[in-house]
Amino acid sequence: GDNNINAKLVLLGDMGAGKSSLVLRLVKGQFLEFQESTIGAAFFSQTLAVNDATVKFEIWDTDGQERYHSLAPMYYRGAAAAIVVYDITSVDSFTRAKKWVEELRKQGNPNLVIALAGNKADLEDKRKVSAEEARAYAEENALFFIETSAKTAINVNDTFYEIARRLPRA
Ligand code: GTP
Ligand code: MG
Repeated sequence: GDNNINAKLVLLGDMGAGKSSLVLRLVKGQFLEFQESTIGAAFFSQTLAVNDATVKFEIWDTDGQERYHSLAPMYYRGAAAAIVVYDITSVDSFTRAKKWVEELRKQGNPNLVIALAGNKADLEDKRKVSAEEARAYAEENALFFIETSAKTAINVNDTFYEIARRLPRA
């Protein structure tokens, strides 16, 4: 097979969940306490080496505002992977994440690799969504579940590497 894969990846999730922060952590190894809200969408690319292959991710970091929801299909259409991000301190963001998963299952590529990322795992004292509940939801829906922190960097690179490993090979 082909050892160099190009894969479109989209981040979806409620505003403020930390989509841009996860990408900034991956791409630049940085974190901003006052990360600006995304307007429309932002594009990044990042190449990862996985075993004998390289995966070049073409990353679309979308805007979580509900009023821009209708633009999302432009970004997830043709995507190989999606990271649906919620904030572990916000039940509403978890509800929104489940809506994104349903939409991706209905409208997305049938082979789409979907990761469910419970971000802000550093804020354990403010947690409102248990890992057990999210893991159970992920198992029922055949998603890859991980808790991340863009702030401390925990599990951020691992999320992208795990997606890269799960992509169908040509
Ligand atoms: P939109 O672009 O508006 O949809 O938001 P977003 O999902 O891109 O969220 P963003 O990355 O802008 O982060 C929102 C806020 O949460 C920022 O102030 C970040 O600094 C903060 N934040 C993001 N990730 C984490 C995290 O893992 N831990 C903590 N403590 N704060 C975080
Ligand atoms: Mg953003």
